[in-house]
Amino acid sequence: MLPKVGSSSLLEEGKESSVRTTNQSHRPFPLRILQFLLLLLGLGILVSFLSMYASRHLKLQNDVPVIHSSFQPCVEEPLSLRSWIRPPANLLHKMNDTELFWRASFAPKIKKYPFKRMPKIAFMFLAKGNLPLAPLWERFFKGNEKLYSIYVHSLPSYQPDFQSSSVFYGRHIPSQAVEWGRMSMCDAERRLLANALLDISNEWFVLLSEACIPLQSFSIVYRYISRSRSSFMGAFDEPGPYGRGRYNRNMSPLVNLTDWRKGSQWFEVNRKLAVDVVADTTYYPTFEQFCRPSCYVDEHYFPTMLSIKSPHLLANRSLTWVDWSRGGAHPATFGKADLTAEFFKKISEGQPCLYNNQPTSVCFLFARKIAPSALDHLLENSSKFFGY
Ligand SMILES: *[C@@H]1O[C@H](CO)[C@@H](O)[C@H](O)[C@H]1NC(C)=O
Ligand SMILES: *[C@@H]1O[C@H](CO)[C@@H](O)[C@H](O)[C@H]1NC(C)=O
Ligand SMILES: *[C@@H]1O[C@H](CO)[C@@H](O)[C@H](O)[C@H]1NC(C)=O
Ligand SMILES: *[C@@H]1O[C@H](CO)[C@@H](O)[C@H](O)[C@H]1NC(C)=O
Repeated sequence: MLPKVGSSSLLEEGKESSVRTTNQSHRPFPLRILQFLLLLLGLGILVSFLSMYASRHLKLQNDVPVIHSSFQPCVEEPLSLRSWIRPPANLLHKMNDTELFWRASFAPKIKKYPFKRMPKIAFMFLAKGNLPLAPLWERFFKGNEKLYSIYVHSLPSYQPDFQSSSVFYGRHIPSQAVEWGRMSMCDAERRLLANALLDISNEWFVLLSEACIPLQSFSIVYRYISRSRSSFMGAFDEPGPYGRGRYNRNMSPLVNLTDWRKGSQWFEVNRKLAVDVVADTTYYPTFEQFCRPSCYVDEHYFPTMLSIKSPHLLANRSLTWVDWSRGGAHPATFGKADLTAEFFKKISEGQPCLYNNQPTSVCFLFARKIAPSALDHLLENSSKFFGY
């Protein structure tokens, strides 16, 4: 029906205009003026055709990189796998944690990817404000652009000011306030994991602080992590007040004393464990309720939960070297006077550990805490100390 109505009204318009012209032809109208008007009309049509052509042509030339794959407007683009697997171009989003964690918990059931996937390591920096050792990290990352991605969680009040050439530029995620030893610390770590999970090519997830440095070259770090059969989450059963002493009996039977684990918060997990951490609604409420200061929930929640759910996937050790030998609530911070070739040699040739069930002397890929003032010293000697 509709097309008919449309065409009939068009016909009527045609009729009307023909009526008008016949009316007009009754009046005397100078032929020259008519010719002139026709010429103007013709010129107008020609010019409009030309400009249409030119604008299309110029647009194509200017926009080649953008519309390359589709000459049609976006709305008409058919759904492709590419649009589904493309990482978000902008890390800022409007999802709250509930929405973000739900979105990030999606995991494919078919394990074989139907496209070429280059698995990446997500380096997740949990920082208060700036990253004083960023230039050393820049050097570490250089030349490996396809194999890593970066995420930074800093206090919401902090305004990052990285140059657009920096690997840290635009890599800050929406953040919230964090209190040391409280659940808000675990929330921030889950937020980092969840944001990193949105990029489907991220396969391994490393949590770092602003006081961490890489001890090995990128290629060694990548090989070490990607070829490991287990994830590097510290998880041990420590007798005494700072281990089992922090267990609260009200957690039973969900978590028994024999399940209780302690570990450094600086972990590396694979994609499966990252999804498990983000998707957890079983253990979270119990830890939030019963692991309160001075329990230090960030040292117990992930190690204990993952040891119950997937013990066989954990190496039960951290990749981040730290020195607690000086005692106190915080580990030692090292300045440039401490950071000698011998110092780093001692770290890399210290106590042996197991890697894929084989003993090895390479147990640590990162170290903390390093003073910001040591940056120039480390930059000057990085190839000697770390091989990058
Ligand atoms: C996020 O938003 C949803 C929908 O408004 C709401 O149900 C949920 O409680 C919010 N979550 C948080 C953590 O604020
Ligand atoms: C804790 O112990 C209870 C009783 O022995 C048992 O039913 C429960 O499964 C245990 N919890 C875990 C996480 O093993
Ligand atoms: C880590 O500890 C768990 C027990 O919590 C154990 O099942 C697992 O085999 C250990 N991992 C390694 C690599 O030894
Ligand atoms: C670090 O590099 C500087 C400049 O090359 C050099 O003078 C200094 O001895 C080096 N420090 C160490 C600990 O090797």
